Amino acid sequence: MNSSNTPNDWSRHLATSTRRLRRSAVREILKAAVRPDVISFGGGLPAPECFPDALIARASARLLDAEHGGRTLQYGESEGVAELRALLAESVDRPVEEVLITSGAQQGLDLLGRALLDQGDTVLVENPTYLGALGAWRPHGVRFIPLPIDGDGMVVEPLDGLLRTERPKFLYTMPNFHNPGGAVLSLERREGLIRLAEAHGFLIVEDDPYGDLRYDGDSLPSLLSLAQARGIEDQVVRLRSFSKVVAPGLRVGWLRAAPTLVDVLVKLKQAADFHPNILGQRIILDVIRDPGFNEHLAHLRKTYRERRDAMESAVAQFFPEGTTWTTPVGGMFLMAKLPHQLNAVSCLRRALDAKVAYVTVDNFTVDDSGTDAVRLNFTNASPERIREGIERLGNLFRETANRSFQLTS
Ligand SMILES: Cc1ncc(COP(=O)(O)O)c(C=O)c1O
Repeated sequence: MNSSNTPNDWSRHLATSTRRLRRSAVREILKAAVRPDVISFGGGLPAPECFPDALIARASARLLDAEHGGRTLQYGESEGVAELRALLAESVDRPVEEVLITSGAQQGLDLLGRALLDQGDTVLVENPTYLGALGAWRPHGVRFIPLPIDGDGMVVEPLDGLLRTERPKFLYTMPNFHNPGGAVLSLERREGLIRLAEAHGFLIVEDDPYGDLRYDGDSLPSLLSLAQARGIEDQVVRLRSFSKVVAPGLRVGWLRAAPTLVDVLVKLKQAADFHPNILGQRIILDVIRDPGFNEHLAHLRKTYRERRDAMESAVAQFFPEGTTWTTPVGGMFLMAKLPHQLNAVSCLRRALDAKVAYVTVDNFTVDDSGTDAVRLNFTNASPERIREGIERLGNLFRETANRSFQLTS
């Protein structure tokens, strides 16, 4: 048999961009953590018991009945279902031509990469940042420039200097309930960022899948709305998702961008999958129009606030002294930085043996920093399970810290 026909030779057929792909560490950990006896803080999973399944069931029955089934199951428009687009456009006070529905916000990130990125381009990212964005854009051979974050989100101040020498294709940010950091970009920094975008003419990609999950305080204006107030809205692409407030399995997200960019993204969407899933979009449309949806949102926020509180108090009680974190006022994650340079990566195997899963923050960085920090999801387990899992983890981290202290002293 010709050696080029052996399965092992596949790799030499791969495109250069494909070779740059990496498996998502989070998805890999999720595989290990699906067993019911594992308490998983690993994925960004909503609580399944909070899915609005009664609303979804009602919508599905209606959409698939004799009257509506023909339309629901037919091919559809690439831009998305017209009524849903119109509703979403209205929610951001923009014309419908600027809205594209995607297969989750993740597809929006992927399409943007395909539309905008060439080999050697520069992309400014928070460090750490969402690993799904890195995964989508890395194959294009781009250079990521890391921007530090603190309790008020991305540190915007040094950007002015940086932008005198760098011409980034875009800057990517999660202003609300950052993944993995949990922080919110302060109003002052939002305004500063928009002023910089105006001065330097760069594009901002604002990713906001968690914006509706706020547990304390008032919402801040989106970067899009601040840009709109200054007449530079076409410099902002805003991505949103129904994964976190309805159900991720439906795979419905959306974005708002300049109409000329939407036009390009539609062509890419046609090449990728023709159009978003019609049943999913129509279910979303019914669910968000249902009078019960606000009640569902209120219940979700209440449940997640209790879980956030349970996690924060357990981390305060059980994690080693010197652990630091920013209280997440929304979203799904608490990022804890461990003291004494504890290596969370090397503790992971033992954590899994103890039947607790987490992800380490180095997966979210572009410079491999973050091995001493963990991202903990607090939405997918009950307060009791959260407490139990954090106690187990805390014991493990404290034992490891004590052992390395004994070794070095
Ligand atoms: C910051 C961020 N952006 C985008 C996504 C993608 O979400 P989806 O494709 O489910 O809408 C996620 C998912 O966890 C996320 O955390």
